[in-house]
This record gives sequence, structure tokens and C-alpha cells, in this order.
Amino acid sequence: MKKIAALFLSFMMLAGLVGCTGSNDPGKDKKIINVGVSIYKFDDNFMTLYRQEIEAYFKTLSTDEVTYQVTVQDGKNDMAEQTSQIDNFIAQDYDVLIINLVQATSAATIIDKCEAAKKPCIFINREPSVEDMKKYEGMITYVGADARQSGKMQGEIIAELDNKGDLNNDGLLQYVMVVGDPENVDAKYRTQYSIEQYIEKSGLKVDKLDEQRGDWDQAKGQEIVANALTQYKDKIEVVFCNNDAMALGAAQAIKAAGRTVGKDIYLVGVDALAEAVEMVGNDEMSGTVLNDHISQSHKAVDAAIKAVKGDKLDTYYWVDYVKVTPKNASQFK
Ligand code: BGC
Repeated sequence: MKKIAALFLSFMMLAGLVGCTGSNDPGKDKKIINVGVSIYKFDDNFMTLYRQEIEAYFKTLSTDEVTYQVTVQDGKNDMAEQTSQIDNFIAQDYDVLIINLVQATSAATIIDKCEAAKKPCIFINREPSVEDMKKYEGMITYVGADARQSGKMQGEIIAELDNKGDLNNDGLLQYVMVVGDPENVDAKYRTQYSIEQYIEKSGLKVDKLDEQRGDWDQAKGQEIVANALTQYKDKIEVVFCNNDAMALGAAQAIKAAGRTVGKDIYLVGVDALAEAVEMVGNDEMSGTVLNDHISQSHKAVDAAIKAVKGDKLDTYYWVDYVKVTPKNASQFK
């Protein structure tokens, strides 16, 4: 009798167990979307904020029906490394890729790989050429900000100063340009448009004392500006930096040389990193430009989801830059 009861009980337990994995299980029909993200290098102040926001935003979008499984990899500033990461995402049948290219010139190769595997691809931050963006239409897109706009805003920040930055009043703006990476359109456009817009808005001419490549890096920014200050001393009126990381380095060099921003030198960056906004608010930097990583990352994620649903993508999704000066810095904290 006991034996029969035990048998019955174990049968019931088994039935109960089976019931758990049956169609009533809410997790059973949950769709998993695999997203492969590759960032040109993790060790970049701005892209760190950007990639963290991609992950955070995907988390907020996971529901009972869909989970976004996001794998973020470090391209280590090495195109071969990044290409193999992309090959792996494709081989493992990821649903969509979000790529911050190490080299924008490699876009065509990556697009061809995606097209062969029928995988949508969202490019972020480093804009492929207009030609390349015509490939694999509807399945690729670029999400970013128009770097020309950020350059123009830098030029305006200086042109709008009471003395137009011309501290020695000789009708010329003596400046130093700290470039991110000359192959990158953000760096090219910021370098070019900051000066063109300055000339247009101020009506003055310029005298470039130095232009050096700082690879978007704070330590390099500091070194370049320290050397320029040693060489050109009081002649330098403005230091333009293609991004805030380098401007933070420049600010250290300026301080170390006993100069004072806003008094005997001016300094502008781009990104509106928290530290830079703080410095703009305290008059330790003349201004920066908001590179809106929140809107950009959200647009990139929204585009990825759209593509996974099978909708066609626009070729471009743009986000505006915003000027940050001591007057409005408190709004950006
Ligand atoms: C940002 C830089 C960043 C670079 C990386 C630029 O848009 O302003 O801070 O280093 O992108 O590609």
C-alpha cells in the first residue's frame, strides 16, 4: 500500500514539474535578441559614457516578451581585432550589430560582411563616407552628430567674447589647435570649422601657432599644450581642443604654466564631460559643446530594434550639438 502511495506521489511531483515548463510558463516564449556592440577602444572618456548608456537603455527596454542580450567588446583601437569581433558576432548569428569603427575607412568591408550574412548594422560616432553609406540600403545607418556644427560652435564661443579672444589687440587670433585623430571626420571638421566660423563671426584674421595630434587623449593634450606654452608663451591667446579629454589636459598645462583661463588665455573643448562642464561653470574653461551621448545612444538602440523588427532604416539619424558657456553651464550638470 505504502509503495503505491509513494509511486502516486512521485507521479504527481513529476506532473507538477512538467507543468512548470509547460505552456503556462511566462518565460517560455520569451524572445532573446542578441546585440553585438564593438567600441573602437574602451579607454576613451566619451565612448565610455556612450557604451554604458547603450547597455543601460537596452535594459530599460527588456520586457516579459523580449530580452536584449548585449555583448560589448573592446576594439582596442585595432581594426584587425575589431573585424574579428564582427566576424564572431556574425558567425554566432547575432541579430544586430552596433559598431563604433576603429577606422571609418574600413566601413565598406564591414558592410559587405553584414550584407552577405543579412545582418543589420548601426554605425555610431565615426562616420563612414557618404559613398559607403549608399551600400546595403535600409539595413545600415549612421547615428551621430554633425561635427561641422560642433566646430562652428567652438569658433562662436571665442568670437562672442568681449575682446573676441584677441588679448593683444593686434587684429589676429593667435591659437593652438589640438587635433583628435586627423583621419576622423569629427577631428577634421572641428579643426576646420572652428576657425572658419571664428573668422566669419569675429571679422578678424587668425595666426595658427601650432597644430598637433592628441588622439583624443588627456595626457597627450597636456603634453602638447605644455610644449606649446613653453615655445610660444604669452603669444598663445586660444587653445582649441577637438574634445574635452584633451582640453582637460590642456587646462592642467595652462595652470602649470601660471596662466589663467578667461584672463590671459582661452580654452575650448567638445563633449561636455561632467568635469569640463564644471570647469566652464567656474570660468576655468571658456566653453565646450555638448556631444549628446544620451540621445545618440538611444537613437542607435532604437534603430537596432527597428532593424530587428524588419523595418527599413534611414541612412542617417542626427543629433544636435549644444553650445555650453559659463552663462548656461549650470543647465548641463
Ligand atoms: C568625441 C571624442 C571621442 C571620439 C571617439 C568624438 O566625437 O568628441 O571625445 O574621443 O569621438 O571617436
